[in-house]
Amino acid sequence: MDGITPTAAPGMAALDRLMERGAAFLGSRYAILGGAMSWVSERNLVAALSNAGAFGVIACGAMEPDRLAQEIAGTQALTRRPFGVNLITMHPRLDALVETCLEAKVGHIVFAGGIPPGSAIKRAKEGGAKVVCFAPALALAKKLVRSGADALVIEGSEAGGHIGPVSLNVLAQEILPAMAEQVPIFVAGGIGRGEAMLSYLEMGAAGAQLGTRFVCATECVAHPLFKRAFIRGAARDAVPTLQIDERFPVIPVRALTNAGTKRFMAHQAEMLAKFQAGELSKEAAQLEIEHFWAGALRRAVVDGDVENGSLMAGQSVGMVDREAPAAEIIAELIGQAAAALARRGA
Ligand SMILES: Cc1cc2nc3c(=O)[nH]c(=O)nc-3n(C[C@H](O)[C@H](O)[C@H](O)COP(=O)(O)O)c2cc1C
Repeated sequence: MDGITPTAAPGMAALDRLMERGAAFLGSRYAILGGAMSWVSERNLVAALSNAGAFGVIACGAMEPDRLAQEIAGTQALTRRPFGVNLITMHPRLDALVETCLEAKVGHIVFAGGIPPGSAIKRAKEGGAKVVCFAPALALAKKLVRSGADALVIEGSEAGGHIGPVSLNVLAQEILPAMAEQVPIFVAGGIGRGEAMLSYLEMGAAGAQLGTRFVCATECVAHPLFKRAFIRGAARDAVPTLQIDERFPVIPVRALTNAGTKRFMAHQAEMLAKFQAGELSKEAAQLEIEHFWAGALRRAVVDGDVENGSLMAGQSVGMVDREAPAAEIIAELIGQAAAALARRGA
């Protein structure tokens, strides 16, 4: 089963019309992006999503260019359908990673983790790739489009991983009416069912990006214990990391609570106390806080240490109830959206 829903299915023609722009931009059957997830979105999940008619995206994370080239080639061996690569803008070798993508003829580069340098956008486009950027606010969305972004992702705070402060519900209302005519905009964060995807398409979104819903795809290589935590987790278990003192900023990351998240609070308190006692400089205390989570996502995803590792997950984790092939998850999302349209006679 490749998960492709026949166009003749009730509501499907109307859904296709709503997804047309996003699907054409991605070159995929459906306007659904598999949001890049470090350690999770490698060749197997990415190819499975693309083969199922969605658009898989490799998470480059901290990979070096050689390693990324291998992952791209590995993915190309598993699918002939298009997929993208997500690059973190603060990677020290960002320019080399862009070249790696271009050499491998990757069609879409997604820049994440901050505003990409204009030169990286320019080079990606000159090299023939389409550029997708994350826009956390309307002013930045406008700036990114001026800098050459071909499409935007707006990701709400419901999402898993590093998050901004604003929900998708509000970002969509601020950004879609103002910007959707200019560039395709994909919505992300907290989307677990097709009806939700449909409502954003009707507001002008070109498509949706989901991450959490795909972690328990059969093809996903995440450790069985990581997947089990997702199947057991409820929306209220996926909470942002808290900062205990504004002098020591913590970038919020939404993850399932575990022993690690509890120890992180104690660790911050300990570093704060050492700073106040003059035992640590402010910089040293901040570094100690930042280092707490180093390698923690890998520990959970790859090693299955679900107690001490980071269980990054979005609030839609409550809608993950089983392991299923990527094609089945995609077919379910598409089926829910098409059925909702069919019920209204669309
Ligand atoms: C385990 C995990 C790891 C993630 N890693 C990344 C990443 O490396 N780069 C990135 O841009 N987004 C990352 N994200 C965010 C996803 O790409 C996606 O935007 C998000 O999961 C969408 O929200 P949802 O989880 O509610 O579907 C990650 C999300 C999760 C759950």
